[in-house]
Amino acid sequence: MKITVLTLFPEFFDSFRSTSIIARALAKQEIEFETVDYRLFTKDKHNHVDDTPCGGGAGMVLMVQPIADALKSVRTENSYVVLLTPQGTPFKQQMAHTYAGYDHLILICGHYEGFDERIRSLVDAEVSIGDYVLTGGEIGAMAISDAVFRLCTGVIREASHEDDSFENGLLEYPQYTRPIDYEGQQVPEVLLSGHHANIRKWRLKESLRKTYLRRPELLKDRVFTKEEKVLFDE
Ligand code: ADE
Repeated sequence: MKITVLTLFPEFFDSFRSTSIIARALAKQEIEFETVDYRLFTKDKHNHVDDTPCGGGAGMVLMVQPIADALKSVRTENSYVVLLTPQGTPFKQQMAHTYAGYDHLILICGHYEGFDERIRSLVDAEVSIGDYVLTGGEIGAMAISDAVFRLCTGVIREASHEDDSFENGLLEYPQYTRPIDYEGQQVPEVLLSGHHANIRKWRLKESLRKTYLRRPELLKDRVFTKEEKVLFDE
């Protein structure tokens, strides 16, 4: 799986590619990651990527041509192209799974005050990472790359994301490690019992409880299993 990020700030991604799990997976060639600086595709001698808004008003607007040409240089018939924008579809774990199944994902980062509307016609999807406005799409592109890469085979052990928050529509259950007693706070006894069926049940119940308390909207359309119904009502 390969991700290409079109950005004016390739250096933004230096620590992303050189740190921890992503760095290791890149070294093992389980995934590929590249950045393309679309300023290199400008046609004027000052390398302008933006211009004043048609119709007047404050701020600058990203031009369509550098982005369109940068995109042409990397796009293949297997590419899926996403524009990062606060106006896009909210990014969710299920989308990370879908993207992880693609051969090539291209993420376009806008910057400055906005971009020429015609950029939208170049892409397959517009995605937002939340209801707030960032100075550019880079943090969103990094968040999406990270969420997608960790689902790719060989990046982390598969069992470690089966129970992730959102994977089964619920928040993850509480986790503990040693010490058993930390300043009077105890690890729940069931987790020390070695009784796998009870542990699984406790975890499911805690997942349901946490989700109900913190993100009740996630349960709104859930079809509860019989076991979940019993645990939820307890
Ligand atoms: N660019 C600026 N704000 C953004 C957001 N919330 N999501 C994605 N891209 C953005």
